[in-house]
Amino acid sequence: MLGLSNIETLMQGKALQVEWDDGSRSRFHSIWLRDHSPDADTLSPGNRQKLVRIQDLPSDVRIERAIVMDQHRLELTFGPENKTVIFDGGWLYRNRYDKPRDDAGELAWTGPAITRWDGGFQNDLPAASFEAARQNPQVLRGWLADIARYGVAKMTDMPIESEAICGVVELFGYVRETNYGRFFEVRTEVNPVNLAYTGLGLQVHTDNPYRDPVPTLQLLSCLQNTVDGGDSVLVDSFRAVEILRGEAPELLAVLASQPANFTYSGNGDVHLHSKRPMIELGPDSELLAVRFNNRSLGPLTDIPFDQMSNFYNAYRKLAEIMERPELAITFKLRPGELFIVDNTRVTHGRVAYESTGSRWLQGAYADKDSLLSTLAVLEHNEDAKKGTI
Ligand code: FE2
Repeated sequence: MLGLSNIETLMQGKALQVEWDDGSRSRFHSIWLRDHSPDADTLSPGNRQKLVRIQDLPSDVRIERAIVMDQHRLELTFGPENKTVIFDGGWLYRNRYDKPRDDAGELAWTGPAITRWDGGFQNDLPAASFEAARQNPQVLRGWLADIARYGVAKMTDMPIESEAICGVVELFGYVRETNYGRFFEVRTEVNPVNLAYTGLGLQVHTDNPYRDPVPTLQLLSCLQNTVDGGDSVLVDSFRAVEILRGEAPELLAVLASQPANFTYSGNGDVHLHSKRPMIELGPDSELLAVRFNNRSLGPLTDIPFDQMSNFYNAYRKLAEIMERPELAITFKLRPGELFIVDNTRVTHGRVAYESTGSRWLQGAYADKDSLLSTLAVLEHNEDAKKGTI
C-alpha cells in the first residue's frame, strides 16, 4: 500500500492534493472529503452507513488545515464547521477518483474485471464440482470469480434429482421466483406455453427481457438427455457488441439510444412488459447489459418514424454478428451438469433436437448482487486469513 508523501491545499481550500510515495498525485474536493469523513457523527461506526444528508454539510466547506500525521494518516480540519477528522491514507488511495479512466473514451467499454470471449473459449469454460464447491470455500470463490469475469461457468456432479438446481443457487444467494415458479421445467410439451418447451432450435437470447428488473443470472441443469441434438449454444454478447463497434459504430449508437419493448403474456395469465434499449450503456458509456430475444420483442412503439429503419438495420446487424459460428461455444449438457450465465451478458440457445429420447432440463433464476456479495466476502475472508489486509 502506498503511503502519503506530501499534501497541499488547492483552490483556497476547496480541494486537496495528495502526493503518494511513488510520486503520483491525486486531487480530492473538500466537499467529497467532508462527505466521506469517517468520524462517528458522519459515519455509523457499526454498519458504516452515512448519518448525514447532503444538506447537513455546509455548501462552502473548505479545508482550513491539513497535516500528514504519519505515512498512513492524514488530519484535516474543515471550515466553517471547525471540524477535525483523521483519514486513513490507504482508504484514500483505494478510493481516489483523480486518475486515468478505464474507458479511454470508448463507447461500450468494459473494465478490467470483465474478459470478453469468443468460440476459442470452448476448451476453457470454467467448471466446478458441486460437492467441492459446497465444501471448499476456495473452490466456490474460484467458481464465482469465473462467473463474474466471463459471465458463464458449468457445474458438474450435481445430484440428479428435481430441484437440485436451487441448491446450487443457495451456494451463493437466493432463487428469484417468477410466474414460472422457483424453478421451471424445460421438456417437450404438446401446446407449449413457451417455445422453449418444444424441440425447435432457439436463437441465442437473454432470458426474460420483459421483466423489470430482468433476472441477472440464469441456471439450466440437466436431469436426462438422450436425444440427438439439443446442444447448448452460448455467445458472449459483450464480444458481439465489441465487433459491432468495430464494424458499424453508428449502429451500436442506435441500439443504445432507442427504446425497445419486450412483452410476454403466456396464456393470458400474466402480462409482462419492459421498455429498455437492446444495448444498455451507463452514463459514462460503459457497457452494462444486453437484452436480445427475438421471441419477446413486442410492438416497437417508442422509436420515432425517422429512426425505425436505422433501428432494424442495427438489430439485423447485431443478430448476424451473434450468429457467427466463431463466436459460439457449444456443448451437450449431461445429467448432473448445469450451466449458469450472466443473463445481462451471455446469451444462450440450442440446436434443434428430435423428440425421440428424453430431454429433461430444469431452469432457475437468481441475481448477480448476491453472487458478487458472496464472492467479495469470500475474498475478504481469504485475504484476512493470509494477513494481506
Ligand atoms: Fe432461454
